[in-house]
Amino acid sequence: MRSVRPILKTLLLLAPLTLSLTLGAARAGGGAAPPAAPTPTVSPASAVQPARQAARVSLRALADARGLLFGAAVNHTLFDPNEPDYARTLNRHFNAVVAENAMKWAGLHNNREAFAFGFADAIVDTAVKNGQTVRGHTLVWHDSLPPWVYTIQTREELLRAMQDHVTGVVTHFRGRVHIWDVVNEAVSDAPGHPLRPSPFLNLIGPDFIDEAFRAAHAADLGAKLYYNDYNTDGLNGKSDAVYELVRGMLARGVPIHGVGFQAHLNTDFDVKGAQVQANLQRFRDLGLDVQMTEVDVQLRPARPEADELARQAAVYRDLLRTCLNVQCAGFVTWGVTDFNSWRAGGRPLIFDDMYDPKPAFAAVAQELAR
Ligand code: XIL
Repeated sequence: MRSVRPILKTLLLLAPLTLSLTLGAARAGGGAAPPAAPTPTVSPASAVQPARQAARVSLRALADARGLLFGAAVNHTLFDPNEPDYARTLNRHFNAVVAENAMKWAGLHNNREAFAFGFADAIVDTAVKNGQTVRGHTLVWHDSLPPWVYTIQTREELLRAMQDHVTGVVTHFRGRVHIWDVVNEAVSDAPGHPLRPSPFLNLIGPDFIDEAFRAAHAADLGAKLYYNDYNTDGLNGKSDAVYELVRGMLARGVPIHGVGFQAHLNTDFDVKGAQVQANLQRFRDLGLDVQMTEVDVQLRPARPEADELARQAAVYRDLLRTCLNVQCAGFVTWGVTDFNSWRAGGRPLIFDDMYDPKPAFAAVAQELAR
C-alpha cells in the first residue's frame, strides 16, 4: 500500500476538479443531493489549500468542548515507524480509541490456558498516556473466536469459559478501560431477527447475553456496558429486535448501560429517511446511553468522485448531528485513514490515503463546532 501512496498523492494534487467540488459542497453543507458540477477553474494549489486549512482544526478539541467521545479504531499501524502520521492524526483529532481487532477473543485468548495481553496493553497504555478514553471491543462475539471454543460440548463448560473470559479481560483492564462492548451482533439478519446462531446461543441458550453482562459487571462495577450491533441505526426490524432484547434485559435487572450502533454505511444511506433519530431516541428513553461505534461511509463505485465525496460528507454530517441531537455519548469512526480501513476500497473515512482531511472531515468539524 505504501508504495502506491506517493502516486496517489501526486494524482490528488493534479485533481483540482475533485477537490474544489467536494470542498465546496462541504462548505455549503447542503443536503444529501450533491450540487450540479460547475466547470473547474481553480488551480491545483488553491484547490488543495482549503483541505490543509481544515486540518488545522482539531476535532479532538471540538469534541472535548462538547463532552463527546470522538474516537477511531486502531490497528498495528499505530506502532509502524514508517507511518508517524497515523499516531499524529489519531492524537490530534480523536479523544477516544478502540482496538480494531486486538481485544477480540481470538486476539486476547487464542490459547485457552493463558491470555495474551501484550498488543492490547500497548494500545491501551498508549491511549491512556495520550489522555484518550478506550472503548473495549468486544467480549462476546460469534466471530473471531479461537478454535478451542468450538471444541466445547456442554452448556456448563461453555458458560464457565465465557464467564472466565469476560472476567479475565475486564479485570485485566480495570482502571484503564471503562466502556465495554460486552455482546456484539447477537441479533441475526434473518426474517424476524431471532438471536444469531453461535456456540453461545446454541450451547448456553439466549441467557448467554445476560450472563456475559453480569460477569462484566461483577469484574468492574464502574464500567459502562454496551450491546453493539450493525444495521440497527435506523428504525427497522432488526433495531426493533435489539430494542426488545435490551428492554427485556433492563426488566430482568441485567446491568446494561448503553447500546452501540455500528453505522457501517455507504453514500446511499439516508439518515433522515431511515429515522435514525427516532430509533436512537427510543433507546435513550429506556435510560440507556447510545454511541455510534464503528462509523464508516463507503463511496459507491462508478459514480463521479466529487459527488460521492459530497454525499459521504453529508452522511457523516447528518449522522453526527442526529447523534448530538439525542445527547449520544460517543461517535467512533472505524479506522483513522482510508488506506488501512477494513473497507479501504470504499474509502469510507474522514482522512484520505495521505492523512489529509476529506470533505467529510470538514462536515464533522462543522457539526462539532455548531
Ligand atoms: C472487523 C475488522 O475491522 C477487520 O479488520 C476484521 O478482519 C474483522 O472485524 N463489526 C464489528 C467489528 O463489531 O469488530 C468488525 O471489525 C467490523 C464489523
